Amino acid sequence: MRLQGKTAIITGGASGFGAGMVRKFVAEGAQVMIADLNTEMAQDLAQEMGAHAIVATANVANSEHVRAMTAQAVAAWGHIDILVNNAGVTHLPAPMDTVSEEDFDRIFAVNCKAVYLTAQHIVPLMKARRTGNILNIASTAGVSPRPNLSWYNASKGWMNNATKGMAVELAPAGVRVNALNPVAGETPLLASFLGEDTPEMRAKFLSTIPLGRFSTPEDMGNAACYLCSDEASMITGVCMEVDGGRCI
Ligand SMILES: NC(=O)c1ccc[n+]([C@@H]2O[C@H](COP(=O)([O-])OP(=O)(O)OC[C@H]3O[C@@H](n4cnc5c(N)ncnc54)[C@H](O)[C@@H]3O)[C@@H](O)[C@H]2O)c1
Repeated sequence: MRLQGKTAIITGGASGFGAGMVRKFVAEGAQVMIADLNTEMAQDLAQEMGAHAIVATANVANSEHVRAMTAQAVAAWGHIDILVNNAGVTHLPAPMDTVSEEDFDRIFAVNCKAVYLTAQHIVPLMKARRTGNILNIASTAGVSPRPNLSWYNASKGWMNNATKGMAVELAPAGVRVNALNPVAGETPLLASFLGEDTPEMRAKFLSTIPLGRFSTPEDMGNAACYLCSDEASMITGVCMEVDGGRCI
């Protein structure tokens, strides 16, 4: 029960890695808010989690939604111990000069601006309590970029840089900030990265992962649980690869 008594908002918590973290956090004793655009999937997962999970329908790229999500969490729990900025989107693999401006804006709104908006609304609460934990879900794409995903890669590089800046600035306030850099994972987003989900394309991706498999929601739940638990109380500003050796 590493997260016993902790309260955690997990954005994009209804699917994929987010759902893996919701399951692990609840199993370790946390109260979790599944904050997602997809209310139906969020409610299905919350029902499975019983009294340990609540749902907020929120677009994390919208300041008013983030304000309401924060207010809902405070009303339910009184305080927020953990924030996981996990909601994220990509463009389909394409040459950088052919990605639409609309796709570019969408990616930077969800992958980057949302980190700023959640900081605006939640960091003041953490500073006031002189404790808190933020985890940003970036990507190996932000460390070792693949061709044809340039703007997604750049948004995740931004997240890693923001993580370190936030960590050093918030350390005196007792707030830790870390990131995870997952390699391609078995989630609904994988098909978008692959472009075409064929055995050949999967084999091509897998050949770049020394441990020889895709990452899983359980992998992300385990790593996130550690970084957000008191066991990691001396760890801040770390952008940890969960990548089977892909970035070596
Ligand atoms: N799957 C991978 O291969 C992979 C690899 C590296 C990093 N990541 C990152 O991990 C995170 C989770 O990805 P995933 O694979 O689980 O994706 P997913 O598509 O399975 O889940 C993403 C969730 O975020 C929600 N969401 C999307 N936009 C939102 C918004 N504006 N506001 C609130 N919720 C929103 C979706 O409804 C969905 O439930 C993302 O940040 C992604 O970039 C994924």
